[in-house]
Order: sequence, then C-alpha cells, then structure tokens
Amino acid sequence: MGNQEWGLQKENLALDDVFKLDGAVLGHKMKETNGIIIGKHFGFPLDFAYEKIFIGGKTGSGKSFTAGVLMEEMNRHGIQFVCFDALNAHDGIQNLPNVEAISPRENETVNVVKLVSKLKRSNGSLVINLVNLRLESQQILMGDYCEALLAEDFQGKPIMTILEECQDFVPQMGKPYSFAPIVRLCKLGRGKGLGAALISQRPAAIHKEALSQVSTWMVHNIINTKDLEALKIQLSFGTDKETIKKVLSGISYAGPGEMVCFSPKYFKEEGYLKVGKVNRPRRTEHSGKNIIVKSVLESHSMHQPMEPMESMVKDSHTGHFSDVSFNPLDSHDEYFAKSDSEGGRDFVLEDMGEEVSEFEWTPHDLEDVLSLEDYEVSGEKQTLKAVGAIGLISAGIYLITRGLASRNG
Ligand SMILES: Nc1ncnc2c1ncn2[C@@H]1O[C@H](COP(=O)(O)OP(=O)(O)OP(=O)(O)O)[C@@H](O)[C@H]1O
Ligand SMILES: [Mg+2]
Repeated sequence: MGNQEWGLQKENLALDDVFKLDGAVLGHKMKETNGIIIGKHFGFPLDFAYEKIFIGGKTGSGKSFTAGVLMEEMNRHGIQFVCFDALNAHDGIQNLPNVEAISPRENETVNVVKLVSKLKRSNGSLVINLVNLRLESQQILMGDYCEALLAEDFQGKPIMTILEECQDFVPQMGKPYSFAPIVRLCKLGRGKGLGAALISQRPAAIHKEALSQVSTWMVHNIINTKDLEALKIQLSFGTDKETIKKVLSGISYAGPGEMVCFSPKYFKEEGYLKVGKVNRPRRTEHSGKNIIVKSVLESHSMHQPMEPMESMVKDSHTGHFSDVSFNPLDSHDEYFAKSDSEGGRDFVLEDMGEEVSEFEWTPHDLEDVLSLEDYEVSGEKQTLKAVGAIGLISAGIYLITRGLASRNG
C-alpha cells in the first residue's frame, strides 16, 4: 500500500499522468456556438475547416473515430466536407442532416465537376465510399476531385476534404495519379478556404510535400520507430527539442482514443500541445469497429454436451477407442448451422440458462479459453465440466493422430 502511495505501480503511466503538471491537460476554452469541440481538452475555432491536419496512429488507435467526431462537429456548424472513406468506416455519417453518401462501382463514373458544383450551390456534405473501387480507380477519382475543387471559386465558403488511408494517394514512394492534385490542394487550398485532413497509420509512408503543409497534428498511439522518426523530422521545423520529446513520449503512452495534438497555431498558450481523449459523444454510429475474433474452441467448450461423445466411447468388445475421426470443427459448424437456423448465435450456457458475455480470444492461453471462470459462472460443477472439455478435445486429437498413424502403418 505504502509503495502505491509513493507512485509505484505495475501498469504503465497513463497519458494524463505523464503531462499532469502541464497546460496540456487543461480543458478547452471554446464555446459550443463557435468551437469545433472533439473532447474535453480539444476545441478549435471554426477556421480549422480550412487547415491542413494530420490524423495518425496505429491501427485501432482511434483515427477514424476522431475523423468522425470532426465531421459531426463541422456538420453541427454547417461547415461542408467531403470524406473519401477507403475502409467504410463512416457509414453512419450520412445519417446527419445535409450529408449524403455515394458508393461508386467499377462500371460507374463520378462527374467531379457536377459534384463540386453541387458543393458550391448547396450546403450539403458527402461521404464517398471507396470500397467497391480498385485502388487505381480510387486514385483517379481523388485526383480529379482535387483538381475540380481547386478550379472552383467557393467565394470564401470553407470545404474540408477528409482523406482516409492517404498513404495510398500521396505516398512517399511512387507518384500515383492522385499525388500531384493532393499536394496542390495541401499547398494552395488554404487561400481558397479548402482544408484537408490526411489520415494514415504511417506518417513515414506519406510524401513530405503533403505532410509539410500540416499545421495541426492529431496523433494517437504510435509505436513504430520509423513513424515516430518521420514525425520527429516533420515537427522539428521551428519546434524546440523539449516539446518534440514530449510529443513523441505522449504518443507512445496514448491509449485507445487518446491523442497528442500538436498545434503551434491553436495551442500557443498551452506550449503548443494538448493531450487527452477524444470523448465528444458521437451523434452517429462509428462503423469502423474492431473485429472480434472467436476461436472455434469457444463454442466447442461452451456448447458441446458434456457427456462423452459417441466417437470417443470405448468399444465395449475390443476395449479400444473407436476409429471414427473426431474433428472439433465439425461440431462447431453443426452448432452454428443449428443456432443460425434458430435465428441467433447468442452465447448461452444451455444447461444453466445464463447469458454470458463475448470475449476476445488470446492464442496464448488455451486454458483461459476453456476455463468457465471467465464467464462468471461459479461452482465446482462448472470446473469439472471445463476439465471434461479439455479431456474430450485431447481424446479427439489422440484419435486423429492414432487414425492417421494406423492408416500410414
Ligand atoms: N475516442 C474514442 N472513444 C471511444 N471509442 C473509441 C475512440 N477511438 C476509437 N474507439 C474505438 O476503437 C475502435 C477502433 O477505432 P478506429 O476505427 O477509429 O481505429 P483506426 O485508428 O481508424 O484504425 P484503422 O487504422 O484500422 O482504420 C472502434 O471500435 C472505436 O469504437
Ligand atoms: Mg480507420
């Protein structure tokens, strides 16, 4: 207890702890009426809509979620945006007022001149779902869109363009069709009221011509040293070493949804950076969810009858185990076929009638997967069943091996 009072702890420091004595953890001072507010600590004035921003972080760190909150906030203020959604992470955004979505296919074209003209004439925003297009077609669409946007005069009306997976469109290596138009948008857009949000897991994989235009860096957790190095190089122009060190250490401490936002323009008073969680309540559902992977063993241990299976019963005459091969996958398929036809796959402990929560599979720990303790089911009976399940699986594997051996022999 004493050690804990002195700060000794098993887990890593939280992002807030690292910056505790800093202005970086203070709340924002923006008002709802004139601020793009994406979390308790993060608020930006409305001219944010024509900035160049970078949203980075490793997979699952919260980039698309942050982009979604930004779009909701811009929508709240009537600021228009166009989002190129490479991975269908923003399906819900079209449910906001004045937002529509298109999902072009390979045999279709998008008339970008019409698209831009609609942006100019209306106050509508657009999500372009790119998942049905080959990468090359995505690059052409994006390039043509940027050129058409730059050619239009919006007379001071800001338009923000959000580019998911932008390393595929302005890569560090190679020059796809979209390369030059995106660089031009980043370089010339500000004067025309055109903003851009570059989103990527890999700052090191985005071309410096585009990254060097970024004024606000919203970075979630990154651990890849090449990407940290790329950020360090970009931030080093005009920033003192101490601040860069803080930014980089913050990024490596950030948990899911937490970010380090470095913005000399907006956070001058706070020492250029702020840290915290993007915790503005969502107005739409975020479709870029983490996929939960489940082991076939899960359903096996949960749903197989605990009595010995036919295939594993000793032959009463010979005293040997049956040679029928036992495949745990079969029983899994059978179970799902059955539960699907019954209209659901709810995880229910059948003989106890108790609903149990889903859990994530860790490949390292078979015992944990099989242990019924995880499901908050108590009692010796359940422990015995878990032991039984382990026994049944072991016997199945033994039978397969034995069957193969006898066939080969
Ligand atoms: N600020 C947040 N608050 C609550 N949940 C969040 C937050 N950020 C992310 N999440 C959750 O984390 C998951 C992954 O987030 P997100 O889709 O934003 O990841 P990502 O960084 O875009 O990953 P990828 O590079 O794979 O696209 C989502 O299920 C989302 O609900
Ligand atoms: Mg994403």
